[in-house]
Amino acid sequence: MLTNNRITKLLRIDYSIIQAGMVWVSGWKLASAVSNNGGLGLIGAGSMKPDLLREHITKCQTATHQSFGVNLPLLRSDIVDLIRVTLDENVKIVFTSAGHPGRHIDKLLERDIKVVHVVSNVKQGMKAQSVGCHAVVGEGIEAGGHNGTDELTNFTLVPQLVDALDIPVIAAGGISDGRGVAAVMALGAEGVQIGTRFAATVESSAHPNYKQRVLEAKDNDTTLVLKRAGMARMIKNKFSDEVNKMEFDGASAEILREKLGSKRERLGIFEGSIDEGMMEAGQGAGLVKDIPDVATLIRRLINEYEQVSLKFQHPTTD
Ligand SMILES: Cc1cc2nc3c(=O)[nH]c(=O)nc-3n(C[C@H](O)[C@H](O)[C@H](O)COP(=O)(O)O)c2cc1C
Repeated sequence: MLTNNRITKLLRIDYSIIQAGMVWVSGWKLASAVSNNGGLGLIGAGSMKPDLLREHITKCQTATHQSFGVNLPLLRSDIVDLIRVTLDENVKIVFTSAGHPGRHIDKLLERDIKVVHVVSNVKQGMKAQSVGCHAVVGEGIEAGGHNGTDELTNFTLVPQLVDALDIPVIAAGGISDGRGVAAVMALGAEGVQIGTRFAATVESSAHPNYKQRVLEAKDNDTTLVLKRAGMARMIKNKFSDEVNKMEFDGASAEILREKLGSKRERLGIFEGSIDEGMMEAGQGAGLVKDIPDVATLIRRLINEYEQVSLKFQHPTTD
């Protein structure tokens, strides 16, 4: 059920549809639009300096009176400052990722903040539960952006997390329509975190070239790059071809990190460099057929989910 479950109660939302925190994509406009339409919007702090994060939080507070949250990648060197801004501005929900879930969690729990951590295997899920996280996002290898080196698919990861944990599981990776939502709910998830599909909406701050590439993407147009240096899924382009060749030829993690540099994501997602940028997107890009506004997309996801659920309740033979 998308409504009235542990996730909707924990996060105080109508539908357990969460818009993923995404660098260069999910600022206050996207997050507030999702929250105003019954889901949970997340501001992606991964591409923001502390002052910019503060600006996005205050704008989001003006744009919506519904729940919203912040995604904090724990590996950021200025994570302490990002957390300070989050606490100062009285944010009530934090999704942590890319790092140890126990780092800094006490400061968040002391302030009664709901903490959800992104995991890519069962051991990480157990760890998140043991340090006090209220829920986990299980992110399969279908997902856009950086992902786990175990390369587990949602089909195997989600049910194993559900079996191992007492806290609720949110599924992420490859979910672009209501069929995907229904499928992960059947695996035991109590919510979905959706990235790529929300990146290709009107309110997303991604460059039009990025949205167009997602729109045009076929089933096999994404690739995993940088397996030895922070693995990520992106749309295939000149940059990914070069990196994959370097990896095949045995380049070290150091050389690969040098090739990646610090501006590739900005270049691809925000500045729209089709050849040289890193256009992070998931396998679900192949299912994206339009660039709707958030209200239309959320209504459609719910309708499709309900249609599929009805089909299971009343199967026909034709
Ligand atoms: C463009 C883009 C940027 C992302 N940036 C982040 C990020 O800053 N922090 C994070 O935890 N995950 C990030 N992710 C992963 C998402 O949070 C989410 O888990 C993932 O997109 C779900 O898979 P999907 O893209 O198939 O829906 C990003 C994904 C994309 C597509």
